[in-house]
Amino acid sequence: MSNAAVALRAGTPSQQSRRSRIIVSPSTPIIGAEISGVDLTQPLDDQTVEEIKAAIRDWRVVFFRDQDISNEQLKAFGRYFGPLTPAHPISEGLDDHPEIWERSVEEYRTRRADRDSRPPSKQAPRDYKGWHIDITFVANPNRFSILHGTSIPPYGGDTLFTNLAAAYEGLSPKIRDLVDGLKAVHQTSSYDAGDRKPRKDGRSTGPFVSLHPLVRLHPETGERVLFFNAGTVTHFAGLKERENQFLLDLLFHEITRPEYQVRFRWQPKSLVVWDNAAVSHAGPIDYAQFSLGRTVRRITVAGDRPEGVDGFRSQPLEGELFNVLG
Ligand SMILES: [Fe+2]
Repeated sequence: MSNAAVALRAGTPSQQSRRSRIIVSPSTPIIGAEISGVDLTQPLDDQTVEEIKAAIRDWRVVFFRDQDISNEQLKAFGRYFGPLTPAHPISEGLDDHPEIWERSVEEYRTRRADRDSRPPSKQAPRDYKGWHIDITFVANPNRFSILHGTSIPPYGGDTLFTNLAAAYEGLSPKIRDLVDGLKAVHQTSSYDAGDRKPRKDGRSTGPFVSLHPLVRLHPETGERVLFFNAGTVTHFAGLKERENQFLLDLLFHEITRPEYQVRFRWQPKSLVVWDNAAVSHAGPIDYAQFSLGRTVRRITVAGDRPEGVDGFRSQPLEGELFNVLG
């Protein structure tokens, strides 16, 4: 255990009277921590749940290892954080578990191949465009995302996370003033807007478009968070075309600074929980560079409409709000 983990386990003076249930080992100074000493397949007591929530609040994304968790147990764990949503506003979940979205890396590779019909020798190298916040094309994106590694290759398929509160803090005061007052239009990406089968529950499969404050107040801490989704933001309300492009480029650069990031290397049965109100993520980052299989399962915990610095609440421009399954 690192010195930092020992210090965290010791807790603040008010916590020292009761022994910590979990061990929190930070991965970097500002984002990511590995949590050990807890079996997520078992019911958790209130103190354990509160300690896990505090670790997510402090470290934005937390990593558990060796959690051999069933679909039912995964959902039971997710409900400690709030009601669960369906798997995705557009894609359907598993037949028996509509809250669970199973993703295999082959889907990414097939999609990439489908989109570019030119022979490989004529295909231009692509910039990696995977940085995103989950499901911000709806006005009430999920609050937490929980991802479990079902089938993980021995190498490849890592996930990156970046701290969007740190990205906001790192801006100069004059740029903070600018972004504080802006709203961003988020819409379904070309992938999400692709040909979709009708949903079994009859809900619309989009398109979805929403207006979010560019800076949101964190729902628990009140911190200002740069709520910039590189995958779905098309433009900022009120800016001209070139102003938009400069700001898109600047913010992409800022949120992807290495010092705000942690890189998670998966193992089979790893489980990750992130605060979708405070991080952006990218993964699997290198699916085009390796051919091994990789399958993960995701559930998402419902969230409110984000609130901006001036009290503005996110609004749907097209499509419904993300519903809740309980
Ligand atoms: Fe995601």
